[in-house]
Amino acid sequence: MCGIIGYLGNHEAAPFLLDALRRLEYRGYDSAGIATLNHGKLDRRRAVGKLVNLADLLVHEPLPGKAGIGHTRWATHGAPTVPNAHPHRAGRVAVVHNGIIENFRELRAELAEAGVPFQTETDTETVALLANHLMEGGMGPVEAVTEVLHRIEGAYGLLFLFDGEEDLMIAARKGSPLAVGYGVGENFVGSDAIALAPLTDRITYLEEGDMAVVTRSSVEIRDAAGQLANREIKTIRIDSARVDKAGHKHFMAKEIAEQPKVIGDALRHYLTPDSAAITLPGEGVDFTKVNRLLLVACGTAYYACLTAKYWFEQIAQLPVEVDIASEFRYREPPITEGTLALFVSQSGETADTLAALRYCKGKAARILSVVNVAESSIARESDLALPILAGAEIGVASTKAFSCQLTVLLILALEAARQRGAISAEKLTELLGALQGLPALFNAAMDSNALTESISADLSEVSDVLFLGRGRMYPLALEGALKMKELSYIHAEAYASGELKHGPIALIDSHLPVVVMAPRDSLFDKTISNMQEVMARAGKVLLISDAAGIAEAGDGVWQSVEMPTVAPELAPILYALPAQLLAYHTAVAKGTDVDQPRNLAKSVTVE
Ligand code: F6R
Repeated sequence: MCGIIGYLGNHEAAPFLLDALRRLEYRGYDSAGIATLNHGKLDRRRAVGKLVNLADLLVHEPLPGKAGIGHTRWATHGAPTVPNAHPHRAGRVAVVHNGIIENFRELRAELAEAGVPFQTETDTETVALLANHLMEGGMGPVEAVTEVLHRIEGAYGLLFLFDGEEDLMIAARKGSPLAVGYGVGENFVGSDAIALAPLTDRITYLEEGDMAVVTRSSVEIRDAAGQLANREIKTIRIDSARVDKAGHKHFMAKEIAEQPKVIGDALRHYLTPDSAAITLPGEGVDFTKVNRLLLVACGTAYYACLTAKYWFEQIAQLPVEVDIASEFRYREPPITEGTLALFVSQSGETADTLAALRYCKGKAARILSVVNVAESSIARESDLALPILAGAEIGVASTKAFSCQLTVLLILALEAARQRGAISAEKLTELLGALQGLPALFNAAMDSNALTESISADLSEVSDVLFLGRGRMYPLALEGALKMKELSYIHAEAYASGELKHGPIALIDSHLPVVVMAPRDSLFDKTISNMQEVMARAGKVLLISDAAGIAEAGDGVWQSVEMPTVAPELAPILYALPAQLLAYHTAVAKGTDVDQPRNLAKSVTVE
């Protein structure tokens, strides 16, 4: 949600900034802009829409200078227009911001009273105006920013540049991630390691409340109390080459295709080479002391949690509550003794999930997280962070992170079952063996790619799609519907198939495709009865099942997509693939922006 980059060095800043913004564009793409200092003189260029528009503008109106800041925006306050695009400038100050300044109206009123004119509808402009106002009153840049940080409320990653200060950049973080990168005679600031990776491998993640005063030769970090802070410099190993499409048309296609590999990576991390045992990092988790598991997340990660509820309850006999982070955080739910709180997040920066985690701190017995970005805030603030090892996920719609989240959550449920004596040694061995076979099954399931592509050509013509699933397949139906709507903009809904006759069946007619996710498992007959109810009303069914399921129930369906036979417990992981492929190909057929769907951003660091 908004990407930030800053450069202070001896090379032209604009090409560095533009290149880094390309890697940050997944965070927002409503507008982009850069500001540089050229012999102490501040100037900026901004353009609405994708970064390519800014790149075009810079060809016609280059921006020289060896110091600069850049921003790619996901609009919160104010429409995506040039005046509302970052960097915002007021007098001597230019600033880029990720987050929301919650008290900007009060500050705005105060500044307006002092005769300060406003040009935009954004909360961020207030920051620039306030800093400039304080500097006009006699403060230096560091003093002014310190005061601004005292006055503003809300969440921010901020990066400032000052007219006349050729060797200065000030960064500040509260609620939104920011990292400082170290070079030789040059230093950098960026929203994440992906932005900084090709520039330097030495970075420091700023902590909550930190302010960093950056010059070409030094970085001085102060904590929230204003004390000098000695933050660790980490060596990162993010291979910048991974952030390309590797010959695929879209990042999403690449990330779907990577699933056999990354699931394999996760399995190698958590299972012994002979698949006989589970190894959790650090001290692991003592599930014998846990009497309730709380799972909290947003979006696709929430659907991974919903699926995990079936695993933990059925296999490990552990009561589970699942919640959407944005609801959980304000409901003030009681956290009873023996509660283990588990937060799932690809980015590890989702504002609501992070706030929910902080709510549980000190209340739950232990805080666990299942994350992709190992250095993220959620990972760092957990007692134990379990990496999913999906690698950089650039496509805004989550795919490989979802299947890796599921894989890690299932392993965790099996470990809980083992410790609690809820699973026999034979069953555990059988399921661990089945897990090892998952990457190969994903490869085999890719055979359905061409068929899902041709079905998607028809789906791209409809205005609504219904997804049905029962038991463990119900959360996957929800995920299938989410993927479909966010990528193709086709209205899609999902129901537990048993709920159909309680209302949604009224929607059924010959125009509404109904995607039924039903492996031949113990609930198959019940799901198929619901499917028959749809077909009896001229409904158009797309059945996703295995060979046995299609042989038994495929007669009369509109289309069927065959999945390899898989252990029933693992089906929600494997069946994520056809759900992803349907959404992907439907979006391609409709010509929507697959990797950067409208209105979305990858990392949701605001509420
Ligand atoms: C949908 C999608 C989102 C995210 C959600 C949580 O395809 O990607 O629904 O799952 O925004 O994000 P993370 O996992 O980063 O907390």
